[in-house]
Amino acid sequence: MTKPRVFVTRQIPERGLQKVLAACEAVVWAGELPPSKAELARHTSEAEGLLCLLTDPVTEELLEAAGSRLKVISNLAVGYDNIDVAAATRRLIPVGNTPGILTETTADFCFALILACARRLTEGKQAIPAGLWRTWSPQWLLGVDVYQATLGLVGFGRIGQAVARRAAGFNMKVLFCDPNPPSGWEACGVPAEPVSFETLLAESDFVSIHTPLTPETRHLFGAQAFSQMKKTAILINTARGPVVDQEALYQALKGGQILAAGIDVTVPEPLPSDHPLLELDNLIVTPHIASASRATREKMAVMAAENLLAGLRGERLPHCVNPEVYG
Ligand code: DGY
Repeated sequence: MTKPRVFVTRQIPERGLQKVLAACEAVVWAGELPPSKAELARHTSEAEGLLCLLTDPVTEELLEAAGSRLKVISNLAVGYDNIDVAAATRRLIPVGNTPGILTETTADFCFALILACARRLTEGKQAIPAGLWRTWSPQWLLGVDVYQATLGLVGFGRIGQAVARRAAGFNMKVLFCDPNPPSGWEACGVPAEPVSFETLLAESDFVSIHTPLTPETRHLFGAQAFSQMKKTAILINTARGPVVDQEALYQALKGGQILAAGIDVTVPEPLPSDHPLLELDNLIVTPHIASASRATREKMAVMAAENLLAGLRGERLPHCVNPEVYG
């Protein structure tokens, strides 16, 4: 029997890749960088299945060019704002993602940013080779306490709740705002208080973003939001770059509107190495690595492969973001 043809847009962790290779005739993009728009379109138009990454824009135009051969799209990420899901749904193409398995790893990383920003970790590291460590000094590199501070979570889904559980260990007060909190959030294991966005901004020492990118959340953090935050507040973003208006963030950090920020997601990605944000001492930028532990990336690859293979067999995807396609 001939195997279905699929396009895998990057070398993915071994266990996931092996599953795909065992069941499919796979073209695996070997480049370190994503395929160009033209390469993505060319390979997708020859495939029944597409296993893609958040760096691959799956647009209406791409789906139109792919035609009716394409049966399934599997994204190696929990977020899927790179995919025009409505366009896929119109064509009855199921779209898979990788929820759940990266929750704890991402929450760990979020907390790493909270601690690193609060305690000025990168400034301390950079001070030594710069020759600035001349003695122990009672007033040098003073940060803020995480212990007993107030943490405001914007979005209280799986990852927000996992961050809240870590915060409990630091005796933090946890506030959250979420227009649609998932049912059962009360059982998340730690006390957390639902508040309005405005209250959260006004009362939080740390504000951490855990919302998907949607038209409603794009630039949710702009000049107005920053003006409502404490001057001592720290912003953390491990969700999606466009949720923050970066120009407004730059101004807020430079002008002392907020104390510091830690962001793992930017606009664009990658952030150019000469970007003005990188000149700020009170900002830590990391290259979208919140889910990047070996174990988690393996699990993501396996889940993405399972979604892909289910779609090729005409079965319901184990993790489908547009179940409407099944009527
Ligand atoms: C996701 O899965 O959406 C993250 O941004 C990458 O792991």
